[in-house]
Amino acid sequence: MSELTGKLDELRGRFDAALTAASDDRALEEARIAYLGRSGEVTLLRRSIGQLPAGERPGAGKIINDVVEAMEAALEEARTRLQLRAFDEDLAQRIDVTFPSVAPMRGSIHPIRRVLEDICTFFERHGFAVVVGPEIEPDYYNFDALNIPPEHPAREGFDSFYITDTLLLRPHTSPMQVRTMQQHRPPVAIIAPGRCYRRDAVDARHSFMFHQCEGLLVGEQVHFGHLKGMLTGMCRALFGPDQSVRFRPSYFPFTEPSAEVDTTCPTCHNIGGPCRMCGGSGWIELGGAGMVHPNVLHEMNYDPDVYSGWAFGFGLERMAIVRYDIDDIRRFFENDPDFLAQFA
Ligand code: PHE
Repeated sequence: MSELTGKLDELRGRFDAALTAASDDRALEEARIAYLGRSGEVTLLRRSIGQLPAGERPGAGKIINDVVEAMEAALEEARTRLQLRAFDEDLAQRIDVTFPSVAPMRGSIHPIRRVLEDICTFFERHGFAVVVGPEIEPDYYNFDALNIPPEHPAREGFDSFYITDTLLLRPHTSPMQVRTMQQHRPPVAIIAPGRCYRRDAVDARHSFMFHQCEGLLVGEQVHFGHLKGMLTGMCRALFGPDQSVRFRPSYFPFTEPSAEVDTTCPTCHNIGGPCRMCGGSGWIELGGAGMVHPNVLHEMNYDPDVYSGWAFGFGLERMAIVRYDIDDIRRFFENDPDFLAQFA
């Protein structure tokens, strides 16, 4: 029997070498015919079974069959290997990996976001915390706690989109004053940026949704001069080193005294004459501000005889329009890549 297995081993070795050497289907087919074909080497071996000693003959057929099975499997494997190699070569020819790719679209920071982050950076440097709150607020936070009782005419201007009789989309970020003072004892120093909603008809300057940034400082001996100093610093950080601010008397139920805040027009530098941005006035209005009303402090259990504070609420779209010379507020919300790419 060992003579037969020896021959098979030797034959198998040569067969495997032929498969490894084969570089195409034809070479494989030639190897198949030479070894496994009708008059191939294995067939010749089978024919020689008759010459084996009588005792070995019955097992010989099975031994040969096992080897043939293994050879056929090896042949199949070699075929697959060649196919894959051909596929790779084909692909390499058809795909030019050195060809320049299509550049992916790169996102950029939205101009509103830029303004917002610069404001946050400025105030954080001065020890203020950035807080964000819900866009849907009960009327207590929007009005009552801010010294605007139910029948107060000031509600008119702030009335927004009501979700229930008492829940509405916030028309300003001032509810964050209330939330902050409810949760912390003085001193508090926060800014609160976020989306606000009002029933405004949409045009180049108005949007039913817009962004505000609220600021609040309450402590002992906080006064109006601190407010002016901080707002001047903020305007210089945003618009340039020559900015100044002015206050015009105004009215808000939650501040006393109250003011509208203007900064010098960064487009015409307050020189006057015809200016598209400020209409020739030399000033740009940023929003409202004032000293926190004693009634509000009282409602928050802050003793108005001990503590005082200021607050402001500015429109971020306004600031971005002035900073980047943008003609229409709607551009901020249209998601036009050409518009946005200018701020990359
Ligand atoms: N909440 C006011 C508005 O939206 C702005 C404001 C904030 C005024 C804080 C005074 C103090 O018009």
